[in-house]
Amino acid sequence: MRLIATPLKDDIGMEIHADIDTLLSPEVGAQLRKLLIDRGVLVFRTLNPGDEQQLALAGNIGTLRQEQGRSIYKITLDKNQNANADYLKGSWLWHLDGTHDRIPPFATMLSGKVLSETGGQTEFANSYAAYETLSDEMKRRIENLKVVHSVETSMRRAGIAATDHNLSSWRSNPNTTHRLVWEHTSGRKSLVIGCHADHIVGMDRKESDALLKELLDWATQPRFVYRHEWTVGDLLIWDNTGVLHRAEPYPLDSGRVMHRCTLLGEESFSH
Ligand code: OGA
Ligand code: MN
Repeated sequence: MRLIATPLKDDIGMEIHADIDTLLSPEVGAQLRKLLIDRGVLVFRTLNPGDEQQLALAGNIGTLRQEQGRSIYKITLDKNQNANADYLKGSWLWHLDGTHDRIPPFATMLSGKVLSETGGQTEFANSYAAYETLSDEMKRRIENLKVVHSVETSMRRAGIAATDHNLSSWRSNPNTTHRLVWEHTSGRKSLVIGCHADHIVGMDRKESDALLKELLDWATQPRFVYRHEWTVGDLLIWDNTGVLHRAEPYPLDSGRVMHRCTLLGEESFSH
């Protein structure tokens, strides 16, 4: 099967050129899965998939997962379309999806339906590559550290109002503790950090804040980052187990709509 794949940056990203029928064949599914794990993000420019095609392509790469009872979930800040849109402002800070679970989604796929006139681009940072290039000294320092992740912390950092309603919804997700360095079954290692990382277990708060900031700054430096400038119809998928992501802030009434689906996680965080 013909599939043309062009690297986007040395350390992250691959653009895939193929028509949808090619992409839906089983052999190509296996190839895409390998490329996804290898390159962190796959970009299909102006593929313009319908929801069924998006789901079929995602299902060809992994196992589809339901989100709030649906296979396709609409990412929009428009309160008429998404009643709890507020929390999506949390996606403006670097994060991994699903750190409040033991097993996070393997991958997330977004299809650009309506774009914002300003802002709203999406950035991805390869935390596998970031880990691999840390100094040996830093690798030793963080080897056995554990981090407490908190939904409330990420929402507060995103500037979302801590109303009684929001607080009780945030707190319905108990804090989780994961190893800072995720050792995958493949043997590769990635960093589990982001706006949800509240503190390092057993470390003084100041030291913990400084170390988490140093690692996040390291992982999100330009060399590890791919920034996607959206065109309507673009489709993206990223490996959520090794890639941090964030949306550039955009106006609440911009009309931006992404159709999102996620793939079932296949391994739990390291504990
Ligand atoms: C997400 C997310 C970023 C975007 O869907 O998990 O963070 O650009 N989206 O909408
Ligand atoms: Mn996200």
